[in-house]
Amino acid sequence: MSEIVINIKNSEITYPIEIKNEPVSDLYNKIINVINGENYLVVISEKVEKLYGKELNFPKSNKFILKDGEKEKNFNNYQKIINKALELKLTRKSSIITVGGGVCGDLSGFVASTYMRGINFIQVPTTLLACVDSSVGGKTAIDTNFGKNMVGTFYQPKCVFINPNFLKTLDERQFKSGLGEVVKYSFIEKSCRCDVEYNLMNFLSEKFNEINQRDEKTLAKLIEICVNLKKSVVEKDEKEADLRRILNFGHTYGHAVEKINNYKKYTHGEAVVEGMRFAFNLALKLNKIDKNYKFFAEDVIKKFNFPILPQYKSEKMIDIMKSDKKAEKNCINFVLPTDYSVVDIFEITENILTD
Ligand SMILES: NC(=O)c1ccc[n+]([C@@H]2O[C@H](COP(=O)([O-])OP(=O)(O)OC[C@H]3O[C@@H](n4cnc5c(N)ncnc54)[C@H](O)[C@@H]3O)[C@@H](O)[C@H]2O)c1
Repeated sequence: MSEIVINIKNSEITYPIEIKNEPVSDLYNKIINVINGENYLVVISEKVEKLYGKELNFPKSNKFILKDGEKEKNFNNYQKIINKALELKLTRKSSIITVGGGVCGDLSGFVASTYMRGINFIQVPTTLLACVDSSVGGKTAIDTNFGKNMVGTFYQPKCVFINPNFLKTLDERQFKSGLGEVVKYSFIEKSCRCDVEYNLMNFLSEKFNEINQRDEKTLAKLIEICVNLKKSVVEKDEKEADLRRILNFGHTYGHAVEKINNYKKYTHGEAVVEGMRFAFNLALKLNKIDKNYKFFAEDVIKKFNFPILPQYKSEKMIDIMKSDKKAEKNCINFVLPTDYSVVDIFEITENILTD
């Protein structure tokens, strides 16, 4: 077992992240212990409810079951969950617990941050993507017709329980989607300014088979590395004023891919991988990296066998990227690679993208 403590500098917020391989049924007592006799609502993803509902043992009356898919991260479900919290008479001392992937976590975190101006929020991530990324750092959101994550808050959880045992039932596509964010961390590691040098790129190469076979210990270590890299970034810049922007590597283009396909066709991780491919090409075009690094990166991506997505019309993609909340004036902010595991932020004008 390992425990990582997040300590946000400016807001004096501290919370633990436990990473432990244990029977899923052990979670119930842990959570009941944390909520300390107060009322609670569990927001659980439909698939996770089917697979683990009995073992988790939460009473039906305290559960909101969220249908699967990115399209469920919307206002309608936000309102339904708020209504359920009101029905249950949750107070400011109550907790919202999320059990599921990033969709469930982002949406219920947004509810927790706004219900009575903010109540306790506990994350139990059950996808690889949620374990390595979305359950840590406090970004909550819902999507709108105008774009992804357009409404949301920064709201840190009270604690996070990561149990890699959940990952055994994840289908291959979703497992690989999480690996997309893992590979992202390997490309940005040195820019995360972490005290420990993990060399995630080497770890991915050395432990390739164990990762793909979902060896529990290897996955726990992989999650630990990614969480520590994210910790290093969010502790220094909780609200994405500066350093945290590097976590968006692959996301500017990736979010546009998700949007252009109405959030239905590709997973978040698949879109981010496509965004990283785009960023490597752009970086080479702008002489930020040499050909060797671009080929090396392509090999890393190829090795994991991520799907190659179609090319989209650049004008349409630019329009979507310009409406991203990270865009400024007439420029689109891109995180681009500049060296092995190093990235930087660049303001890119439209003409460079259409050339
Ligand atoms: N808040 C953040 O910092 C942050 C960071 C990265 C991504 N995100 C968001 O995360 C979302 C993507 O999250 P995701 O990849 O977890 O997708 P997801 O939440 O849609 O989950 C993927 C699928 O896996 C199923 N599932 C979950 N756990 C399972 C398990 N243990 N066994 C079998 N099936 C299981 C779900 O029901 C769902 O069908 C996106 O909305 C993205 O914007 C947020």
